[in-house]
Amino acid sequence: FKVPAIDNEPMKTYAPGSAERQTLKAALTQMEQELPFEVPCIVNGEPIKTGKIAKQTMPHDHARHLCMYHEADEATVAKAIDGALAAKAEWESMPWNDRTAIFLKAADLVSGKYRYKLLAATMLGQGKNVWQAEIDAAAELSDFFRFGVKFVEELYSQQPTKNSAGAWNRVEYRALEGFVLAVSPFNFTAIGGNLPGAPAMVGNTVVWKPSPAATYSNYLVYQILAEAGVPPGVIQFVPGPPPEVVAQAIDHPSFAALHFTGSTFVFKKLWKDIAMNIDKYKGYPRIVGETGGKNFHIIHKSAEVKNAVIQSVRGAFEYQGQKCSALSRLYVSSSVWKEGGFKDLLLEEIAKIKVGSYEDWSNFMGPVIGRPAYDKILGYIQKAKDAGGEVLIGGSGDDSKGFFVQPTVILSKDPKSITFVDEIFGPVLSVYVFEDADYEKTLELIDTTGDYALTGAIFARDRKALITATNKLRNAAGNVYYNEKCTGAVVGQQPFGGARASGTNDKAGSISIFYRFVSARSIKENF
Ligand code: ALA
Repeated sequence: FKVPAIDNEPMKTYAPGSAERQTLKAALTQMEQELPFEVPCIVNGEPIKTGKIAKQTMPHDHARHLCMYHEADEATVAKAIDGALAAKAEWESMPWNDRTAIFLKAADLVSGKYRYKLLAATMLGQGKNVWQAEIDAAAELSDFFRFGVKFVEELYSQQPTKNSAGAWNRVEYRALEGFVLAVSPFNFTAIGGNLPGAPAMVGNTVVWKPSPAATYSNYLVYQILAEAGVPPGVIQFVPGPPPEVVAQAIDHPSFAALHFTGSTFVFKKLWKDIAMNIDKYKGYPRIVGETGGKNFHIIHKSAEVKNAVIQSVRGAFEYQGQKCSALSRLYVSSSVWKEGGFKDLLLEEIAKIKVGSYEDWSNFMGPVIGRPAYDKILGYIQKAKDAGGEVLIGGSGDDSKGFFVQPTVILSKDPKSITFVDEIFGPVLSVYVFEDADYEKTLELIDTTGDYALTGAIFARDRKALITATNKLRNAAGNVYYNEKCTGAVVGQQPFGGARASGTNDKAGSISIFYRFVSARSIKENF
C-alpha cells in the first residue's frame, strides 16, 4: 500500500460576508446557547461520571463556564490503565494501513464536519480569535493526523540496507511494551490531538490527560477520533486533577512513555518522579517533552524595517503571547531603532491592536487563559519596572469581565534582567538596543541569557549577518527563521521543537517523533 500524496490543510479566511463566517457565527451562537456542557471521562469507550466536578471557565467572561467536567478519580485512572493494556494486542496487530486510515478519516472530520464546532470550542474555551483558532484546531490538527500517517509509512519502510548471502534482514517497529501517558497543554487544540495521536498511530495505547483549560475542545477531539474508528480502550480520556492522574499513571509498572507538552517546571518534576520509580518499570520509559521558551528576534542594521516590525508584533502578540514559540526578547541594532524608524513603527503598530473578546472580529488579541496567568503577567510587568525597565506601551490589564492584558513593550538597559530570562507566557515583549558594532557580542548575549532554546529569528538583508548568527546561535533555538517571525511552524514543513530547557527536541510534525514511540526488533532469517 502507498499512502496517497497529502498537503497542508488550506486555511479559510472568514472574510466579511463569506459563507464560512456565517457558519462559524452560527456554531458560536449555538455553543453559547447550549453551554455549559457536561464532560465525562471516557474509559474503554464508556463515559464515566465520577461526580467530582470541575469547571472550565471562559477566559473572556470568567463568570461563565464552557463545561463542567468529571475529574478522573483513582478507580477511573486504574480502569483506564488496565483497559489501555487490554486493548493493546489487537490494536498493535492491526495492519498499519487499517490503523492509520482511521487518522486520515479523523483529519477529514476535523477539516470538514467538525471544523466550526472545534473552532467555536477553541475560541470560547481557550480565548483564541478566529484566525488563531483556524491555524490550530482546523489546520494544524488535521495536518498532524494526515502527515502522521505519511510519517508512519516512511518509518515502517526504514529497513537494513544489506543482506548477507542466503539471508534476509529486516526490522520490525513494535509499539512500546506498556501504555503511553499523554499530558497536553491548553494553548493548542492541535497538540491535544497529536500527543495521544502520534503514539497511537504506531500501535500504542494511550492514557490521555488533557489540560483543564482545554477540556471541552479536547473532548471533541476525543469524540472525533472515536467516530473515525479508534477502538474503545486505545485512547482513554481522563481529565482530572493534574498531579493525581499523572502521579498514578507514572507509578504503574507498565508505564512505558510520557508524551508531554507544558511547563519546564512540571516536566522536570515528572522526569525526577519517573527516575525515582525506575526500578518498578519493565523497561526504561521514553520521555518526550516540549516545554518552555524565551524566544528571540535579532534585528541587524541591514534589516528591512517594516517587515521586521510587523513580524515582531505578530510573533509577540498573536494569541496574547501564549504560544511556546512566542517572541519575548527583541534585540534591535541601534541605528535601526533610532534613525531607521523601528521604534516609532513598532509603537504605531501596537497602538492599533484591539484587545477584547472573540465577539468583535476586529480584535487582534483576546484574553489570557486564566486568573493565575493574568496575575503572573502583571506581576512580571511590575518586576520589570522595579528593575528599571521603561514601559513604552501597554503595561496594564482589565480583569473585570475577562482576563485582558494590553500588549506591552519594556525597554531595558539590562539585557540579563528578569523579563529577558523568565518565561512569562503573555503579551510582554522585552527590548534591548545594541550598538551596531556589537552584533556578534549580542549574539553571544542571546545564547547565554536564560535556559531556553526553542525558537528565534534573524532579520537581515546582509547574508553574512544571517550566516554569522546561524553559526553563533547553533544551540540557542530548535527552530530558526530568516526574516520571518519565530512562531507558526507548519506540520511537514518546519519540524518543531527545542533543546536545553525547552524540551527533548524530538520534533513534532516530522518523522522523528514517531521513532520515540516504537521499539525496533531486528530479525535475521536464514534461508
Ligand atoms: N508550533 C507552534 C508554533 O510554531 C507552537 O508557533
